[in-house]
Amino acid sequence: MTRVVVVTGATSGIGRAAALAFAARGDHLVLAARAPQTLAEVRAECAAAVAAAGAVTVETVPTDVTDPGAVDALARTALARFGRIDVWVHTAAVMAYGRFDELPAEVFDQVVRTDLLGAAAVARTALRRFRAAGGGTLVFTGSVLGHVTAPYMSGYVTSKWGLRGLVRVLQQECRDTPGVHVCLVSPGSVDTPVYQQAANYLGRIGRPPPPVTTPERVARAIVASVDRPRRETPVGKANLVLRFGFTVLPGLYDVLVGPLVRAAGLSRRPVAPHAGVVFAPDPTGEALRGGWRPDPVRAVRAPIRAGRALLRRLGTDGRRSHRLG
Ligand SMILES: NC(=O)c1ccc[n+]([C@@H]2O[C@H](COP(=O)([O-])OP(=O)(O)OC[C@H]3O[C@@H](n4cnc5c(N)ncnc54)[C@H](OP(=O)(O)O)[C@@H]3O)[C@@H](O)[C@H]2O)c1
Repeated sequence: MTRVVVVTGATSGIGRAAALAFAARGDHLVLAARAPQTLAEVRAECAAAVAAAGAVTVETVPTDVTDPGAVDALARTALARFGRIDVWVHTAAVMAYGRFDELPAEVFDQVVRTDLLGAAAVARTALRRFRAAGGGTLVFTGSVLGHVTAPYMSGYVTSKWGLRGLVRVLQQECRDTPGVHVCLVSPGSVDTPVYQQAANYLGRIGRPPPPVTTPERVARAIVASVDRPRRETPVGKANLVLRFGFTVLPGLYDVLVGPLVRAAGLSRRPVAPHAGVVFAPDPTGEALRGGWRPDPVRAVRAPIRAGRALLRRLGTDGRRSHRLG
């Protein structure tokens, strides 16, 4: 059955991968984020992805989930166009690096406004419509940082813990309407631009600590949650280990987590303090992937190329020494 799927946060990373995955399955799409030009790009990518899937309509609605009334207006546009909403996938989020007391208060507040209150606004709008229609599936992207904590990401961690609590409450409240499902997909590190796009008051650019999975893999988990709704789907090899250490060995976890974040979660590249995309989008930084995973083709080609260059050099040197002799 062709579904009508709303994706908030569709211009980058996991949301963009999810939009492409739903398009490839032949679902109608309503794509939302703040940057209109990137929405147009993603719409074109979806149209290309659906070439095989048949006639699919992709609508784009520039939306800032922190604007009062914007999420309701998005739902109204979707209903006016398609008459129903079957699925709502919410991936919109921003990040900010910095020690809590050094982070500007307005940056912390806007991260929570986007990542937690934006999600609440989506939940309110989507669930009112789903209840009225007697069915629908709402998928949120949480994080392993909704189960454990890490320094220098206070706004994000606060939001993801809050989101997990909210999702659990919604799951309990929706038990009276069996057709309505609320799901949480909780990835570990994912190769998306969110790290470069983050606000930074720490002096070093953030990066995803390994192991790093792909946004496409998280998108597959999102699609699977829609097909077979479940409370929570973790994605990522390190999640269980982190959660175990955080819960069972909290003292040791707290000793290790700071040095680990500084070693594996921050690059060496220095950066001046800036607010990233917390208050406004930067379309130049939006993409499907963030470039954090080694390119396997390049990894194989690089030593071959280096070997060839060495041989060429040896050959040239050999001929030169022969001529000289
Ligand atoms: N990447 C990871 O390692 C990772 C790990 C665990 C969980 N997650 C979660 O996965 C989700 C997607 O993250 P990602 O890594 O794919 O991030 P991303 O590549 O930075 O994409 C974030 C998306 O959110 C949109 N957005 C930001 N602020 C918005 C606002 N106020 N209103 C509407 N849209 C807004 C962005 O578009 P505009 O800027 O154009 O609005 C963009 O489309 C997030 O919930 C994140 O917390 C990511």
